[in-house]
Amino acid sequence: MPAAYPIQEHKFDMVVVGAGGAGLRATFGLAQKGLKTACITKVFPTRSHTVAAQGGVAAALANMGEDDWRYHFFDTVKGSDWLGDQDAIEYMCREAIPAIVELEHYGVPFSRTEDGRIYQRPFGGMTTRFGEGPPAQRTCAAADRTGHAILHTLYQQSLAHDAQFFIEYFALDLIMDASGACRGVLALDMASGTLHLFRAHGTVLATGGYGRAYFSATSAHTCTGDGGGMALRAGIAMQDMEFVQFHPTGIYGAGCLITEGVRGEGGILRNSAGERFMERYAPSVKDLAPRDMVSRAMTMEIREGRGVGDHKDHILLDLTHLGPEVIHEKLPGIAESARIFAGVDVEKQPIPVIPTVHYNMGGIPTNYHGEVVQLRDGDPDAVVPGLYAIGEAACVSVHGANRLGSNSLLDLVVFGRAVANRCAETIPANMPHAPLAADACDPALARLDALRNASGGTPTAVIRDKMQRTMQADAAVFRTGETLADGVRKMREIHASFADVRVSDRSLVWNSDLVETFELANLLDQALVTIVSAENRTESRGAHAREDFPERDDANWMKHTLCWIDAAGNTRIDYRPVHSYTLTNDIAPVPPKKRVY
Ligand code: FUM
Repeated sequence: MPAAYPIQEHKFDMVVVGAGGAGLRATFGLAQKGLKTACITKVFPTRSHTVAAQGGVAAALANMGEDDWRYHFFDTVKGSDWLGDQDAIEYMCREAIPAIVELEHYGVPFSRTEDGRIYQRPFGGMTTRFGEGPPAQRTCAAADRTGHAILHTLYQQSLAHDAQFFIEYFALDLIMDASGACRGVLALDMASGTLHLFRAHGTVLATGGYGRAYFSATSAHTCTGDGGGMALRAGIAMQDMEFVQFHPTGIYGAGCLITEGVRGEGGILRNSAGERFMERYAPSVKDLAPRDMVSRAMTMEIREGRGVGDHKDHILLDLTHLGPEVIHEKLPGIAESARIFAGVDVEKQPIPVIPTVHYNMGGIPTNYHGEVVQLRDGDPDAVVPGLYAIGEAACVSVHGANRLGSNSLLDLVVFGRAVANRCAETIPANMPHAPLAADACDPALARLDALRNASGGTPTAVIRDKMQRTMQADAAVFRTGETLADGVRKMREIHASFADVRVSDRSLVWNSDLVETFELANLLDQALVTIVSAENRTESRGAHAREDFPERDDANWMKHTLCWIDAAGNTRIDYRPVHSYTLTNDIAPVPPKKRVY
């Protein structure tokens, strides 16, 4: 096999896979600390999905009113429906402040207050005084193009430091040694068709989420969970995959994101009667309730016949009362998206919206340093040597069962930075590389060869379409034991049908047929793990709403799901405890209580 596939070997201290917000923050942080760092990415860095993030990044800067990182901590624990690890949440909310100030100094063009400070808007679930005070203005924004502004700045910083980029390289598989340590990654240079082994003391997976397991998602088509797929193939369990976030305001039909910042600036959701129905579901915070609650409320309105349109199957987002000035200054991007994708002039007409898959709370389990952890010999926090995960690919877990809007961009920068700090402390520069067995890449090459020559009867797109429709129908906003069992049965069949996949192009040069097939394999494993984990969790918590188990059940389910999958599609479930303790005495843990707003 190796003779047929010559491999070019590269040696770095660290290799980062992915060049979105998390990957770039880690890349330049590592390079800045003197570690020889490679970043490999399947798209040009500034085309990574972070570019699409709109509304902002949370940090208790208190630029526009009372705030405190402890309030942010409380809101995030409550938002997570108590499944978040409170040590990691403390770390994120406290570090948010220096991480955002740093971003400003690196050059992120944040919108400004009259007195020149970073502009901050309200977002769902963000409050003051431990939920007792008024909504917090905590979300730092660059109009409604915050991700774009951050991503470009981080790429500029990466270029300013000595990181080496390998652009349009597709990561195929992790290279693990016999002891279970990660020694690097094998990647395909899509332009030349050549293979590259990146040997490193540390491999950081920053590959984003797997939103494209669903039919309608705000995620880019590139969001295929390639890091999660590689981790599962390396025998690593994924955590809390049943928790999939539906963003309340995807454009009906097109799925494009309309930022929660619209509601932060005063936008209102209305049903067919023109009613501001969120007043009934969340009397205190109304349209600024957390996303899981707003998505459920919208779904209830539609189910009860108060949806709009010919099929009464969506809801209206009204910002006509905001006036041209606010729209032009604060929301120019969504005005353009609404015009292009919904044919709507937002100054005069409401936007048709529907809950749309947006974010994976689950992912590769890590501690708050970004080190991948697994359940090993009874230790639930055993570190996998040499492997790190950050951003949406990871499950730290700071979002638990439901992420608050604007805590995602925050997660990217805080944990991208954390991994750089951790590696600088633990990996001496220029340390010799551990020996690697001559056949270490053989399993990855065998898989590449098999898929390249796959000559079954089913095109990749057909399997992908079946997977996306099944996940959309059976792992939806509301779930029941029956729909989940049916979905698991269908997903097992679809997963098995991958054995019959057909790849028509045998070349290695710009073979998008082959790359889409690798992506589909990554999606299929994660889709199956998601729906199996959802069927297994017999309670409702955060984004996981079981109609047959409508209550949260802390006695039995205050624990993280771990789910493994083998090459034949067999799944196995176990659990890790939730960290219900804080890192320091600066804040007390928040004990669980009923989650009402
Ligand atoms: O609505 C938004 O702008 C999305 C933000 C987020 O997912 O954090």
